[in-house]
Parts: sequence; structure tokens; C-alpha cells
Amino acid sequence: ALTADLHIDRKPTSEPLPAARRAALMADPGFGRVFTDHMVSIRWSAGRGWHSAELVPYQPLSIDPANMTLHYGQAIFEGLKAYRWADGSIATFRPWANARRFQASARRLAMPELPEETFLAAIEALVETDREWVPTREEESLYLRPFMFAMENGLGVRPAAEYLFLLIASPAGAYFSGGVQPVSVWLSKEYVRAAPGGTGAAKFAGNYAASLVAQAQAAEQGCDQVVWLDAKERRWIEEMGGMNLYFVYGGGTDGDPTPTIVTPELSGSLLAGVTRDSLLQVARDLGYRTEERRISVEEWQRGNADGTLTEVFACGTAAVITPVGSVKSAAASWTVGDGTAGDITMRLRRALTDIQTGRAEDTHAWMHRL
Ligand code: COI
Repeated sequence: ALTADLHIDRKPTSEPLPAARRAALMADPGFGRVFTDHMVSIRWSAGRGWHSAELVPYQPLSIDPANMTLHYGQAIFEGLKAYRWADGSIATFRPWANARRFQASARRLAMPELPEETFLAAIEALVETDREWVPTREEESLYLRPFMFAMENGLGVRPAAEYLFLLIASPAGAYFSGGVQPVSVWLSKEYVRAAPGGTGAAKFAGNYAASLVAQAQAAEQGCDQVVWLDAKERRWIEEMGGMNLYFVYGGGTDGDPTPTIVTPELSGSLLAGVTRDSLLQVARDLGYRTEERRISVEEWQRGNADGTLTEVFACGTAAVITPVGSVKSAAASWTVGDGTAGDITMRLRRALTDIQTGRAEDTHAWMHRL
């Protein structure tokens, strides 16, 4: 109860960056390179709960060398976007879903759960204050990065008794340079992203650290991205890099000509993407069939060879939808469809971004207007 109505103190703001300098930084923002004028900071202490919630100028932190995060890695994060609509207003996409997933990640890493209302209040405080940083151009948005880590100092291995939640924001263009271009993928049999009982379902910093060597291996193989297989059999497809995957049977399945889109079921070792979940609904709205089930490398290769599996794409908040154009493994390589972005892929992408940017009606109450 104490924290549910935690007030975020909007501290007297520093001088915002002059408009001309902000415009220069936003001319070609890329992804995650430029940050807005402010951040939200909230602390948690054992016995006291959440406290000291404030909006302050974006600034460096001072970290003790014995900070427990630096040693044992209790660190989780989220990612979501605020969009500028044609009328100049601003809306975020499904922030409650991110708030709930942040709590789930916290539970897995033995960290305190930030109340959903406080997560939302932080987003509102930052986006309202730094609203000039929300881009106006198509395909651009303000990427919001909530994160939390241990703030206690010491070398004992146990959950910390102090945590810091921060929210920062970054104007963002395309995640992959080159925009919506098909990527090539390497099927990793040596490395796995996550195992049953592990941290794969949490948005945990260590999952991303553990992925980097496999990503480097994919690059050595001439591929853009790594595709993860399950830890036990190295047979079932899990994710691509940090994104969920979708497989499109453009001519339907089981004698039904309705296109069917298939995504790996939430196995416990893959991330429950908000974009993944949204696309299941958007696909049904467009009249497609959807399936959440296991899909194997053999099924992908076979469906590709017989022409039934026509498109594959990855999805996530940062890059929205990215087509997969070709696949390589130690045993085989193949082109997906004709190697270009598929029609159903691009139709789904457009339908989702239309909702996010206010061009289409928000029939599922996903948008949170500011
Ligand atoms: C995504 O949005 O797809 C992500 O996984 C975030 C990424 C920048 C770590």
C-alpha cells in the first residue's frame, strides 16, 4: 500500500538541451545512442520498500566497486515505445504488459516487484517532461528503457537488500541499419540461449551477455543473426537473437487455405514478447489462423523445400518485424521463399504499426494516451 501511491517528485529540471541541438541529435538517431534530458529514479530498501521516487536530469551514476550487480549480475530491464500521432499527441503501446513482465523478471531474479502503477507513473512523468524528444517521422519513436539492479555493496552471494530502478528514454529510428531488410540467420548448435529451469523467460541482462559469443559466431558464418534451438535436443526453434520468431504457411495447412502463422510456444525458456503476443491477435484480426506450438528445424527445412512454409520473420519492440531471408547451419543452408520480405509479413507489420501510430482503430485498448 505504501508504494502503490508512491509519488514521483518532479525535481526542478535542468535546462533542457537547446532545440537546435536536440534537432541535430534527432536527425538520424539510430538506436540507443541518444538520450533525453531526464530520467526517473526509484530506490528500494529492505524493511522500507520503494522510496525516493524522483524525476531528475539524465546523469551518470556513482557505483561502489563492491556493488553487487557488478559481481553477481542481478539486473533486469524492459523495452517499450512512445509514438507521436498525427495530431501531435503521444501514446505508449501496452505499458501494462511490460509492467507485469518486469514483475515476473524480478521474481525470477529474487528482486523486489515494482508496483504496476508506479511503473506507469514513471513512464508518464518522463514522457510528459521530455515530450519534445518523441520523434515525428514515420518508423521513429521514443524507446523507453526501464531497468533495475542491485545497489547494495558486498561480496556475499545472496539477493541484495538495496535496488535502484531507473527509466531512461532514447529517440529511435530503425533498429537494424538498412531498415526493413531480410536478415540471414545462423542456427546455433554449439551455444544455447536458455535451458529449462533457467532464466530464459526473464528479461535478464545475463541472457543478453550470454548471447554475444553466439552472435559473433553467426557473423563469422556470414550471417546477420543467431537462431537459438532448445537446450535438450537442439531441434526445436526458440528465438532469433533477442527477438521471437514466426513461421508463415501462406497457403494454409490441413487443407484449409487460410494462411496460418506459427510461433514457438512459451516453453519456459523463451521470452514472452509483447510484440509476439500482439501479433497473435493482429493475425486473427486479419483472418489468419494462429498456432503456438513447437516447430523443429526439420519442419522449417521441409516446409521450405516443398513450398508450404512461405515466410519467416522475427519480432520485437525495437525492430517491430524483421523478415528472415536465408538460413545456414553446419548441415545445410536455404533461402526462405524468394529471400525477400513476404506479403503476409509486411501486412502484419503494417497492421501493428497502424495501431501503434493511431492510423488504425485501437480495438484491443492497447494504447495508453498521455
Ligand atoms: C526488442 O525490442 O526486440 C528487444 O529485445 C530489445 C533489445 C534492444 C534488447
